[in-house]
Formats: sequence, structure tokens, C-alpha cells
Amino acid sequence: MSITIALSKGRIYEETLPLLAAAGITVAEDPEKSRKLIFPTNQPDVRVVLVRASDVPVYVQYGGADLGVSGLDSLIEHGGQGLYQPLDLQIAKCRVSVAVRAGFDYEAAVQQGARLKVATKYTTIAREFFAQKGVHVDMVKLYGSMELAPLTGMADAIVDLVSTGNTLKANDLVEVERIMDISSRLVVNQASLKLKQAPLRHIIDSFARAIAQD
Ligand code: PRP
Repeated sequence: MSITIALSKGRIYEETLPLLAAAGITVAEDPEKSRKLIFPTNQPDVRVVLVRASDVPVYVQYGGADLGVSGLDSLIEHGGQGLYQPLDLQIAKCRVSVAVRAGFDYEAAVQQGARLKVATKYTTIAREFFAQKGVHVDMVKLYGSMELAPLTGMADAIVDLVSTGNTLKANDLVEVERIMDISSRLVVNQASLKLKQAPLRHIIDSFARAIAQD
């Protein structure tokens, strides 16, 4: 019974490695140095696939992978349909925040009845947040480099992930509101969980024990 694990490059991949090791799984090759997308592990029946962060929930939902590690941001945007979410892995922590150009009067702009032009990859999170505040937004969907939107006059504000804050600072933007804290979650295909119960349970339980030790 083979197991496919979906991960995304960068922090999620790096911070998942110790959890995989706790389940006795080591990836044979360094994906950062390769253009390959499928990576064998030390276990002949376990492989890792590397996909875009926002695609991890999609691969797991449709059975392209049996399980995966997804940031809460990607999970909310996806909607979580068909996914069993047994664990908050407490890794790849960051936050989703609103940021504007230094000097932009955000307080005045979000006065009741005002319209705010917001550029973001996280349209679901942003829509819900501003709806609760009673702020009307014109949403511009972007897929990356959101920092550029306020700088070019395309938007008043962005909703983006913030970790160290260095990217905002480097682009003369300031964080004006924190929307939510983010960490990565383990997501499992519900059919796989029934069909491949023993190997998946082993991985889930090993991850859970590793987190509890931290
Ligand atoms: C994220 C986010 C910011 C940056 C924030 O991008 O979109 O650009 O990290 O991190 P910082 O606060 O530590 O500077 P990421 O590198 O994940 O890639 P992306 O642009 O593909 O989302």
C-alpha cells in the first residue's frame, strides 16, 4: 500500500522533515537542488510530492496525495472540503495581516461606509475580515508580490502573510492590522484514511508524539 505525501517547498518542507523523521521517513534527495517533483524516501512505499502551497489541499482532496501539510491560510482559501484535519503541527508559524503604504491614513479609510481597494492572494480571508468590520472592499486578486500593489497605486491595502516583517519594511509598507495567526496543519484524504488506515495512523500518531515533545 503506497503512501504519497504532498508538501510545498520552503519553510513547510524544512519544518516537516523532523516530523517525517519521527515517523521513520527520510527523503532521499534535497528537493531544493532539484527540478524533480516526486521524491522517493527511505521507505519503498512512501513518496513525497512537491506542489505549490495553495495546491496541497487540492492534491489531498482529490487523492493525488494521501496526506499533506498545508498552511492554515491555504486551507481556508481552499475551503477544506474532503479533508480530515487531525493535527495543528505548530510549524511554519506566521500571521495574515493588513498592510498599507507608510503615511496612508488607514483609520480614515476604513470608516463605516468607506470603500477600500484591497489586493491579495487571500480573498476569502480578506473578504470575511472586512465584512465583519463593515468595510466595503474592492478586491483585486493577485498571485504573488502583493507588496507592489499599494506602491503602484493599484490598491490602498494588501492582505498578506507576515513572518519577520522584513518584506513589508523593504517596501515601505506598514502592518496596520493582524487578521489571524497561521500555522501548518496535517490534512488527510478521507478515503485514504479508511483504505490505508494502518500506515496513515502510524504517520499521524508519530507526528502527534513529535509535536507533544516540543
Ligand atoms: C511570504 C509573503 C511575504 C513574505 C513575508 O511570501 O507573501 O512576501 O513571505 O515574510 P517576511 O515577513 O519574513 O518578510 P513567500 O516567501 O512565502 O512567497 P510567496 O510570495 O510565493 O507567497
